[in-house]
Amino acid sequence: MRTTMNAALIKHYKQDLPTIEQVPMPKIGANDVLIKIVAASINPIDLKTKDGGLKMLLKYEMPLILGSDFSGIITEVGAAITNFKVGDPVYGRVQKNRIGTFAEYIAVAQGDIAIKPANLTFEEAAAIPLVGLTSYQALHDIMKIKPNQKVLIQAGSGGIGTIAIQIAKMLGAYVATTTSAKNFELVKSLGADQIIDYRTENFYDKLHDYDYVFDTQGGKILENAFKIIKPGGKVVSISGLPNERFAEEYHLPLWKKLAFRLVTRNLTKLEKAAQADYHFLFMKPSGKQLETLRTYFEAETLKPVIDRIIPFSEIADAFNYSHSGKAKGKIILRISAIEKS
Ligand SMILES: NC(=O)c1ccc[n+]([C@@H]2O[C@H](COP(=O)([O-])OP(=O)(O)OC[C@H]3O[C@@H](n4cnc5c(N)ncnc54)[C@H](OP(=O)(O)O)[C@@H]3O)[C@@H](O)[C@H]2O)c1
Repeated sequence: MRTTMNAALIKHYKQDLPTIEQVPMPKIGANDVLIKIVAASINPIDLKTKDGGLKMLLKYEMPLILGSDFSGIITEVGAAITNFKVGDPVYGRVQKNRIGTFAEYIAVAQGDIAIKPANLTFEEAAAIPLVGLTSYQALHDIMKIKPNQKVLIQAGSGGIGTIAIQIAKMLGAYVATTTSAKNFELVKSLGADQIIDYRTENFYDKLHDYDYVFDTQGGKILENAFKIIKPGGKVVSISGLPNERFAEEYHLPLWKKLAFRLVTRNLTKLEKAAQADYHFLFMKPSGKQLETLRTYFEAETLKPVIDRIIPFSEIADAFNYSHSGKAKGKIILRISAIEKS
């Protein structure tokens, strides 16, 4: 019986890079499963968490094992588990207060996982949960895209963009996207109808009367989205500022609601002037939606896009590469070999 495992952790915010250390094995509750992690993906949220950038929304105790999504094999089930059994290959995005997938094992609530797509390797499956759920929740749940509606997806070549383009096309949208010239072929192969080189062109000079913008950049780029949105349209951002609507949805205390109102007053002005809605999305884990996504991957309607696979021992390289902002699709960490499960 193992008592310790390897995990990549930080001991304080703004630590240069996580270090791999021995920590006690996780313990499972009645509604949890223990998972031997085979692969995990790097997401920009891991870097933001490391640097304390999400303190307003999430508070963590140190030391903190980083990592939000994974694929792996169930090695133990809690007393109340009925949907899964030992040996099941699964993938998932853990709850934000239970992160720690850059480790050999993790305890996860059964509601946050699903059986991994049978046709994908563990590395490919690990590329899906966080970005797949985020894109599905933006494009399907909030925008409710209908065939022939027009959507702009910012940064089509990134972890989010590469899956978001495919989901938007699956829903029947006309898709415009931004990237740099070296990634044109990639986003075209994923189905993008119109491509804008963000280094040489302004998207708001080229596009107009859009139903939706999926903003992954925030700041001025988010503000400019209101120049192309048509009345009744929606701008959904995952990198902008949370607004009052978000505070209400999350039942946040009044002081946070007022603080969000204050910091987003310019965005509120822009949405009123454009007669459009601004939504900030903070994605939610969902085993149920991963079940839905599994069917699309197994039907090959969607496919994972992987930039590179990096061994766990070289996690520093993975963080540095993610920090460069140049990833084409997902950066995957290979945590353990499957035969050792
Ligand atoms: N709120 C949430 O729930 C949530 C969930 C997931 C992600 N996010 C956030 O969403 C953002 C994107 O995540 P990601 O995983 O897609 O990041 P990523 O994979 O690191 O994005 C890298 C890609 O972005 C492109 N890019 C960089 N600057 C650009 C610009 N100004 N215009 C167009 N493309 C640009 C790069 O293309 P080039 O190499 O051509 O420059 C590269 O392909 C991050 O800030 C992340 O934290 C939020």
